Amino acid sequence: MSHYRQLRAALAHKLAGRGLVHVVGGTPVPRNFDVDYPFRQTSDFLYLTGVEEPGCHLVIDPETRRETLFVPRIDAHHRVWEGHVPSPAEARRLFGVDRVMYADELKKVVGRRRVASRAALRDALDDLRACKTEGELALMRRANEISGAAHREVMRSARAGMREYEVQALFDAACLRAGLKHLAYPSIVATGANAAVLHYRRNDAPLRDGELLLIDAGAEDKGYAADITRTFPVSGRFTRRQRDVYQIVLETQKACIDACRPGVVSADLHVRSMRLIAEGLKSLGLLRGETDGLVEGGAVRLFYPHGLTHMLGLDVHDVTGGRRRKMPNPTKVPVRFCAKLEPGFVITMEPGVYFIAALLKDPALRRKHKASVDFAKAETFLDFGGVRIEDDVVVRPSGPPLNLTSVPKEIADVEAACARA
Ligand code: GLY
Ligand code: MN
Ligand code: MN
Repeated sequence: MSHYRQLRAALAHKLAGRGLVHVVGGTPVPRNFDVDYPFRQTSDFLYLTGVEEPGCHLVIDPETRRETLFVPRIDAHHRVWEGHVPSPAEARRLFGVDRVMYADELKKVVGRRRVASRAALRDALDDLRACKTEGELALMRRANEISGAAHREVMRSARAGMREYEVQALFDAACLRAGLKHLAYPSIVATGANAAVLHYRRNDAPLRDGELLLIDAGAEDKGYAADITRTFPVSGRFTRRQRDVYQIVLETQKACIDACRPGVVSADLHVRSMRLIAEGLKSLGLLRGETDGLVEGGAVRLFYPHGLTHMLGLDVHDVTGGRRRKMPNPTKVPVRFCAKLEPGFVITMEPGVYFIAALLKDPALRRKHKASVDFAKAETFLDFGGVRIEDDVVVRPSGPPLNLTSVPKEIADVEAACARA
């Protein structure tokens, strides 16, 4: 409770003089007829209150610091279907706010008072949410530990003949059994060539010995996400070719993790990962030429078409820190996330190498990159899919970051984790 109180106080402080702070909670989203999607509270509301009920509002008067939580008025009929819902008095004790009123009384409090603009509120929340407090880190650590254990269970249990959704079921069940009811995003379970579809969601193909299985999955604790990817051989043993590609991604990831220090620009890290991957692909004979040219000219992007990193928090692609942190991209490659790293940032590190038919067989791209890419050789990898390794790290005031993710990733450790009992 004091955790949420502190965050509300910080928000009130930031918005002092701008009027009442009014934060609107989420409402159920209809799925069909009278069925809703499972309710997930909005991230801002979770950030400030931890309240997981729909239909709520939070109003803070920054001058008096008085906090009012508004909850829906529940009638007897509703209780028949939904069971007990905390009364205002109970909710006040439960959530540690100054008072609780019914949502239909909102006007009484907000009335004609000046309310902080949505833009000011958005900017203040983005600014605050970027650096995680100790309380938030404890939740992120738990989400990572449970998701990590689920990944380890998947490595132990996945085998040829299973379908991707059986692996997904193992992962989801392990998280649920540990008390995490929500996944942070739809699990990607992609065997063989499916791993080259970056947002693969079908999850229904059979696993075959000789293929790699990529699983990108994480659960959330009180809204705080884990975002973890591992790639491992279905048979439990990497082939030579898989080993070569895997090692390039692993070495790239480890070097970039070590470089996550305050003041480093995330876009520069991304370029660094592209250079390392370019050099690795050169050693395999897939790319040729100067590394700078391969990075800036876009040839590496044929094999590594996504970002290295994003912020992680209540959203899997979390807020990027508000206007104060906006900065121009100092590199020559396009990036979605560009910020100077600060202590308390939690970010992912997720390089990958993929063999994507849509890119490797595109006539215009083949013409453009014919001097840099051995397309004939790349085509022999079209059944390969891809490798991604993704950990979640906390930037510290000095030294390398704290890695929240503890799931085997060295080749020998992955093979040991896949070993059959
Ligand atoms: N799972 C989404 C991502 O890795 O960004
Ligand atoms: Mn990610
Ligand atoms: Mn991911």
